[in-house]
Amino acid sequence: MENATPHHITSAQEESGDKLLDSTLRPQKLDDYIGQSVVKNNLRIFIEAAKNRGEALEHVLVFGPPGLGKTTLAHIIANEMGNNLKITSGPAIERAGDLAAILTNMTDGDVLFIDEIHRLNKTVEEILYPAMEDYVLDIIIGKGPSARTLRLDLPKFTIIGATTKMSGLSSPLRDRFGNVYRLNFYQSEEINQIIKRAARILKIEIDESATEEIAKRARQTPRIANRLLKRVRDFAQVKKNGKIDKNAAQEALTLLEVDEYGLDNIDRQFLETIIKKFNGGPVGLNTIASSLAEEMDTIEDVIEPFLLQIGMINRTPRGRVATASAYQHFKLTPPADWQNKLL
Ligand SMILES: Nc1ncnc2c1ncn2[C@@H]1O[C@H](COP(=O)(O)OP(=O)(O)O)[C@@H](O)[C@H]1O
Ligand SMILES: [Mg+2]
Repeated sequence: MENATPHHITSAQEESGDKLLDSTLRPQKLDDYIGQSVVKNNLRIFIEAAKNRGEALEHVLVFGPPGLGKTTLAHIIANEMGNNLKITSGPAIERAGDLAAILTNMTDGDVLFIDEIHRLNKTVEEILYPAMEDYVLDIIIGKGPSARTLRLDLPKFTIIGATTKMSGLSSPLRDRFGNVYRLNFYQSEEINQIIKRAARILKIEIDESATEEIAKRARQTPRIANRLLKRVRDFAQVKKNGKIDKNAAQEALTLLEVDEYGLDNIDRQFLETIIKKFNGGPVGLNTIASSLAEEMDTIEDVIEPFLLQIGMINRTPRGRVATASAYQHFKLTPPADWQNKLL
């Protein structure tokens, strides 16, 4: 998705420069996938059972904010099953014929990864229902009164759908996934491990305190942790003979304008808008969106999840509210009636 948000070092969304880094660092096996233990434990059983039965895996839906490991999980599942992975995305499948072409080219056991599956259009989605449920493709031949439907059998394949927006999925589509996994933000210890693993693979010398320094600002998100590590490495190479200690990490991160929470300009603007323009809220999402000239979807799916996670905002029935920590972050005092806002 091309979005209007100016790219920033701590944006969790995939940027062009991430492709190589992501694929270099992407774990290949479930054992190397750090954290998300509930998801992993379920998947292990589910994969083993399907393998024992010699069947294709039931369809899997993975959802969660950008950069938490959805695409990685799709690769791992196909890999653990020992099957091929084909990759596409909701917006890339424009017409029913596009999907038909993909599906008829699959073989038994193949895994089809559909990223941003909430962006599939309606006609394509309707082709997908019988395909997912009964492994058949209904093709309409001819037009008008002489039109008839031809039913083609499809191989037993598995769809893995990924979405940042669960509410964007129609319920018939959601219901066709036997397994739904939600990815959570990572604990700091897990982000530490992810940084250490990446450092090992990229042959970067980094000490414990520098690892923690980067982890603190990584927004509990693996993609950002890896990206920050790479940028700090570049800095250390030029300024510090390569080795990364706490000092080098802090200097580099300051230079990159990443604050102690890992907040970027967009986050700060978003919070300041609620605090300064709307007196801390509650303010509706659409009002904030037009004030920031930002898409509502971007705010809801990309900006807000982490701010909610760290308790900088609350969602109330009357709209978004800035919390005490948000005020503290900007060294401001909440208004006198602030307590009532959280109700
Ligand atoms: N659980 C994990 N353990 C280790 N690294 C991870 C994990 N999840 C994600 N990563 C790293 O973060 C990068 C981005 O993850 P990705 O799967 O592309 O996120 P998403 O598809 O959810 O946006 C991956 O390339 C990988 O290097
Ligand atoms: Mg992805």
